[in-house]
Parts: sequence; structure tokens; C-alpha cells
Amino acid sequence: MKISINANRCEPSPMRKFHPLALQAQKMGKTIYHLNIGQPDLPTPEAFYEKIRSFDSSTVAYAESPGMPILIEAIRAYYKRLGVELDTDDVLITSGGSEALLLTCLSILDPYTEVIIPEPYYPNYTTFVHAAGGVIRALHTGPEEGYHYADRKRIERLITKNTRAILVTNPGNPTGVVLDEQQMRMIADVAKENDLYLICDEVYREFCYDDKYGIPCMGRFDDIDDHLVIIDSVSKRFSACGARVGCVITKNKELQQAILKFCQSRLAVATLDQVGASALYSVDEGFFARSKEEYRRRRDLVVEELRRIPGVEVTMPMGAFYVMASLPVDNADRFQRWLLEKFDDHGDTVMFAPGAPFYETPGKGINEVRIAYVQELPKLKRAMELLKLGIARYRQEMM
Ligand SMILES: Cc1ncc(COP(=O)(O)O)c(C=O)c1O
Repeated sequence: MKISINANRCEPSPMRKFHPLALQAQKMGKTIYHLNIGQPDLPTPEAFYEKIRSFDSSTVAYAESPGMPILIEAIRAYYKRLGVELDTDDVLITSGGSEALLLTCLSILDPYTEVIIPEPYYPNYTTFVHAAGGVIRALHTGPEEGYHYADRKRIERLITKNTRAILVTNPGNPTGVVLDEQQMRMIADVAKENDLYLICDEVYREFCYDDKYGIPCMGRFDDIDDHLVIIDSVSKRFSACGARVGCVITKNKELQQAILKFCQSRLAVATLDQVGASALYSVDEGFFARSKEEYRRRRDLVVEELRRIPGVEVTMPMGAFYVMASLPVDNADRFQRWLLEKFDDHGDTVMFAPGAPFYETPGKGINEVRIAYVQELPKLKRAMELLKLGIARYRQEMM
């Protein structure tokens, strides 16, 4: 039997592919400190559960294909507070930001058309672009330059007759790079001048650790309506990953219609999840401030501890809840395997995501890792200790 070319071009997720080894390690009695997945541990606001408890329909019916009006209205009100006026049709509810990305790629890409993405980038972008038959043209950045990519010349150099879109993640996963207003404007201008889609993945919008960035939103530029596609989600913002609710936002009518066809073909997003998510948007402002403060403390601790480990290099992330670090090991993938199979300290070991799959360019990121600081401070401290011990022992035994 044959597997499609597009499926064969996709790779397993580096965040999830060690799961079988992790299960094995747990069976052997090890405790694993999970820093591999961006699964926030802060409690989901109570409003989510209350809203679902008060759901009083006798049937859990399909929701509307574009999304439930109650949720779309909540999202419009949230965007209005950010200074962005949206019409009802501008918002299509999806099963997480993941489906928003997939449906966008399916709607704008043809085989061999190109999407420019600064690397390192969220590895599932590869799957979404490849599923649609597209090709990623990576704008390479590395730890030595703090992963900064907002350089007009470098972006323009990658544009070809096949380019359909520029995709940026702001704030960035895995780098934590945040675009300032001028950089956002420059990227918007490049997209506009070259008649490209600008896909802006803003699922980490509220997590910026320097007040100078405010709450970044590309949607505030009102001259790129035909180009802009915003990817959004409740997963990270409200600590509600399992709700699987996101949305794609665009004012481009033709694109709305294209995406809507895919929405109709998959019928609807889960009704109860949408009901619960609709209540999330009215949490008090303090919720974001408190979450951000907690992640800031975690970031500071993780970066400080990483800097204490000999041979580790790290750039201070300014947003999201990840940090990329270069480790003094030959291969982070091999090191992760070894940590699960061969290492423990008093029964404990640690997991992160190896860096290479975050790069399109072959050979890059091999000794880098992405660490998600989504655990309480004492657990993060212990995880950093395990990383330090692991590196020292791995270097003795394996290098
Ligand atoms: C940059 C980025 N975009 C989109 C997503 C998709 O998240 P979800 O489908 O849970 O909204 C993630 C998840 O980690 C992400 O890191």
C-alpha cells in the first residue's frame, strides 16, 4: 500500500516522538520532568467550567461550521479591546491554532509554492505546509545573533515567483523573540509590496516580558486587510490546551470563503469546548498580568540556571514560554534518548525537545534544545539540576 508523498514529507513531532521511551522510563520507576511540550500548568479559569456546567441543551448538537456566534462575539469583543474591529465573517473557529494553520495552508498553497518562515520555528509548521504540498523557505537565524530575523533584505532575498506567504510567530516559539512595532510594520510592508499573505501566529500574544512590546497584534495595521491572516487560540492564553479551540482571522473575503469550505467539510468544532471557551474571554485583566508574572519568574530562573551550566549558551527570551539553549553535547536527540534510557538521579530524569527539527536547514540545531518553562519554580530548579548532572555524565560516558 502507498503512503502519499505529502505525508512522507512530514516528520514526527520532536515534542512528542520520545513518548514511547518516556513510558518505558516511567515503567522502570523513573520520574520525568517534562519540559518538552508547551502545555501550561496554570489552572484554566473557573469561568470555563462554570459555563459548561450551565449548558442546558438536551442534545449536544453540531455547532455552526464557522463557529458558534457566542464564541465569535466573545473573540470580536476581545479584539476590540486590542484596537481591532472585526466583522463576524472575519473569524472562523477552528480546532486549536493547529487547525487554523492547516486550513490556511490548504487554502493558499499549491504544490511547490513557498512559505518564508524564520528558523528555528515551531516544527508542526512543516507538517501543515507539507500537507498542502508547499515548501518552506527558511530565513536562517541562530543563537549567535539572538535568533533575530526582522531584516528586510534577508526576507526579500528569499522571495521568488513561487512565494505565497511569509509566516511569523510573534512572540516566537521556540526563540522567545518578539517583534517591535517598527519590525512588524516592515514585515507588513514587505508582504504588501510583494502581494504575499502574511500569516501571523499570535497564540503567545499576552506573554511579552518587556513592557515596550505591549500586546503585539498585527491586526492593528488597517492597510493589509487582503494580506493578513492571524492565527489565534485559547490554548496558551487561557491555559486551556485541551479545549482545542482556536481561530483564523482574515478580512480577505476570498480567503474566508476558501477556508469556510474546509470548515464545512469537517462540520464543526466541538460544541461544549466552544461554549466553555466563550466564557474565557471575559476573565479579568488581572489574569493575564498574573500569568505573565509567573512565567517571567520561571524564565528568569531557567535562564539563570542554564547560564550556570558550563558550556551552555542561551539567549534571554522576551516572550512566549520557551528558551532555546545550545548544550555542550554532540547531538541533543541522542542525549535525550540517553537521558530516558540510561540516566537518572535518585530516580529522576528530564525531557526537552531536541533542536534540529526546529530548523529547515540541514545540520542546524543539532546541539540545541528547546525548553518549555511550564512547571512550578521548584520543579524547574530540579529539572535544571538534572540537565546539569545529565550533561556532565553524558560527556564522560558518551563523548
Ligand atoms: C507557535 C504555535 N502555534 C500554534 C500552536 C497550536 O496550538 P493549539 O492548536 O493548541 O492552539 C502552538 C502549540 O504549541 C504553537 O506553539
